Amino acid sequence: MKNITVVGAGTMGNGIAHVCAQHGFKVTLVDLQEKFLENAIANITKNLERQVSKSILTETEKENTLNNIQTSTDLKATAAQSDMIIEVVSENMAVKENIFKIIDSVAPEHAIIASNTSSISITKLASFTNRPDKVIGMHFMNPVPVMKLIEVIRGYATSDETTNIIMEISRKLSKVPVEVNDYPGFVANRILMPMINEAIYTLYEGVGGVEEIDTVMKLGMAHPMGPLQLADFIGLDVCLAIMNVLYDGFKNPKYAPCPLLVNMVTAGKLGVKSGEGFYVHTKGSKELIVAPSFLK
Ligand SMILES: NC(=O)c1ccc[n+]([C@@H]2O[C@H](COP(=O)([O-])OP(=O)(O)OC[C@H]3O[C@@H](n4cnc5c(N)ncnc54)[C@H](O)[C@@H]3O)[C@@H](O)[C@H]2O)c1
Repeated sequence: MKNITVVGAGTMGNGIAHVCAQHGFKVTLVDLQEKFLENAIANITKNLERQVSKSILTETEKENTLNNIQTSTDLKATAAQSDMIIEVVSENMAVKENIFKIIDSVAPEHAIIASNTSSISITKLASFTNRPDKVIGMHFMNPVPVMKLIEVIRGYATSDETTNIIMEISRKLSKVPVEVNDYPGFVANRILMPMINEAIYTLYEGVGGVEEIDTVMKLGMAHPMGPLQLADFIGLDVCLAIMNVLYDGFKNPKYAPCPLLVNMVTAGKLGVKSGEGFYVHTKGSKELIVAPSFLK
């Protein structure tokens, strides 16, 4: 497993390419347009410079990492040269189906196809290929260069061999892999998202304000950030999509997304990425300001 293709150069894709290249793999980062790839390389460079300034990496290691990364807009040609393809495109079944079919049609027989999906069924993604034994979930956490966990998700048909290879590669990336089975939300989001949704219900029902809810969870439960702030970081659209996967997958009303979450997404209040969610987010400022609609 030497040549890795990372498909999707967004928030997660550039972090995954960074970490794989830093640990000696030859990475090709693929996206739809050159400008997305240029942005990703600029981001990776900035993050590597931060690691050098904190003495986590040397200048030479930074240069070696950048030299290990190529970019391309030609998925077919790139996947055809790969031992492993990590799919990191938007959380949308139709988009992922298309990518999985293309990759499966061109990738070498031995190649493994991993997905970084937060919640889409690995068994379903595998069904779009003729190699379901070589399809697996490799769920990195955000920000990828910092977070230690990789949730490794076995689909119904994922082989022991594929799982063992991915566990070993994860350790080579200096991460801690944890193997779980393929049910809605896996483990991470099965537990995290209902907590965030419950925090939004608590706000919606007027039990507490934005700051009160986040402070209770930070100081009372030793969480590094409150659930509403975390929801803003993840993206409220992503939170809603994952709640819908849990709701549809288990057919259980306890997973119904809070109407306030639905309303905020409909209104375009998505958190950090749109500039406002439960808090107002101004570029370059770390100050936490509650959004005007939630001020008493
Ligand atoms: N953001 C998070 O905190 C987080 C955490 C864990 C997992 N994930 C998962 O990672 C995946 C990506 O999330 P993200 O936040 O990086 O999304 P993003 O929107 O930042 O990036 C997605 C990228 O995929 C590209 N893309 C879309 N269609 C493509 C195609 N056909 N070919 C090539 N590139 C294509 C887009 O241009 C974009 O650059 C999703 O499955 C998401 O659920 C996200």
